[in-house]
Amino acid sequence: MTDVFDTIDAAPLDREAERILRLNDRGGYTVPTEGLYPYQWNWDSAFAGLGFAAFDIDRAWQEIETLFNGQWDNGMLPHILFHRSDPGYFPGPEVWGTEDALGRGACTVPSSGISQPPVVAALAWRIYQADPEAGRARLAALYPRLVSYYRWVMASRAESGAVAISHPWEAGRDNAPDWDEAMAGIDPVGVAPYTRRDTGHVDARMRPTQADYDRYIWLVQFGRDRRWDETAIAAESPFRVADPTMTFTALRSARDLRRAAELLGEDTGEIDGWITRLEEGAARLWNAEIGAYDALNLRTGNFAGSVSNASFLCWWAGLEDRRSLDTLRRVMAAARFGIPSQDLSATSFDPLRYWRGPVWAIMNYMAANGMAEQGLTEEAARIRGDTARLIVENGFAEYFSPEDGTPAGGATFTWTAAVWLAWASPTADTGRGDI
Ligand code: GLC
Repeated sequence: MTDVFDTIDAAPLDREAERILRLNDRGGYTVPTEGLYPYQWNWDSAFAGLGFAAFDIDRAWQEIETLFNGQWDNGMLPHILFHRSDPGYFPGPEVWGTEDALGRGACTVPSSGISQPPVVAALAWRIYQADPEAGRARLAALYPRLVSYYRWVMASRAESGAVAISHPWEAGRDNAPDWDEAMAGIDPVGVAPYTRRDTGHVDARMRPTQADYDRYIWLVQFGRDRRWDETAIAAESPFRVADPTMTFTALRSARDLRRAAELLGEDTGEIDGWITRLEEGAARLWNAEIGAYDALNLRTGNFAGSVSNASFLCWWAGLEDRRSLDTLRRVMAAARFGIPSQDLSATSFDPLRYWRGPVWAIMNYMAANGMAEQGLTEEAARIRGDTARLIVENGFAEYFSPEDGTPAGGATFTWTAAVWLAWASPTADTGRGDI
């Protein structure tokens, strides 16, 4: 079999990926893509930093530092920073109403009131590893802010051990089938009239439905009405789902933060406690019925029954657990390109609708790196090869159909370019020789 990497002419694609990162650079921070997402997003920026680290280490650190300029006094790192107003996006800062939020303190950067998968410590550690000499002082300066973010995650989201979301946007997998039951439990009465902007940029078939959107806005109003008071939201919201993305990225990050603590000579006791707690929480997300890690609705105690790409982040979280390997093999065998964000045999599967089927390069990066670390080298190699082929054949799209690779969502996408440079390109320094 020809190795896909032998046939790729990497240089023009490497150049294009660099061009995309520069194109989306707004001066110290990167937008995910012009038009559809005109602000700084939390986990997108962490990946942008990873991409910049391939060719501009100073700019890589700057991306992360700018993100932390928006950190609230209580440690929360918002999912969107609205540095400069853009009327082409909804819901903007006026809808979130976070100016007088509890916990926001003196932070002056306008932001949303929720967070996103906490990948930043893990990716900051990778950026450090790309150039330890340049990175040590930057990592040391960032360290207390990282700790305060994860302390917030543990205190405000980890009541079940696993990390929960208070809004589907927090999981970064907005319309995943994982939240269908919890979303159905919301009656979106009292949502103020609004106009969606996303469907003005992208085909509506590739986006969440209107029923989803009404509930997204309802939940924003719910938090705003409580001044983003985490205790009130956790106690009163109908929506509280323990999520594999949040849990596994938090666990991975805690392990890498611990490595940073050791390097910097900091005490690791608190982080050790988080790791134990998150491991116990992760164990609660194992759904034997589907043979995979799953989302758990904390209000009903029901699993979602969703085999998603987040299910397979367990290895990146450092779990030495092969129970879902057969499930992974089955899901991958059914897809031309993996990893689909939903099992193709599920009734909820939809090849182009966002997080209900399409392949996402960032998820592949995390999942496959975890597999390689756990010795699942064949699986890791297939996923890296699929990611490369998707990009070679279809460009730097936001996401891709697992059936035929059709590019979907926004184009010239920051994190797809970043994952190419950091990992999928044949020229990438993957940090390991094994994938
Ligand atoms: C969408 C994605 C989310 C991402 C954001 C910006 O909301 O679901 O994961 O962070 O777009 O790219």
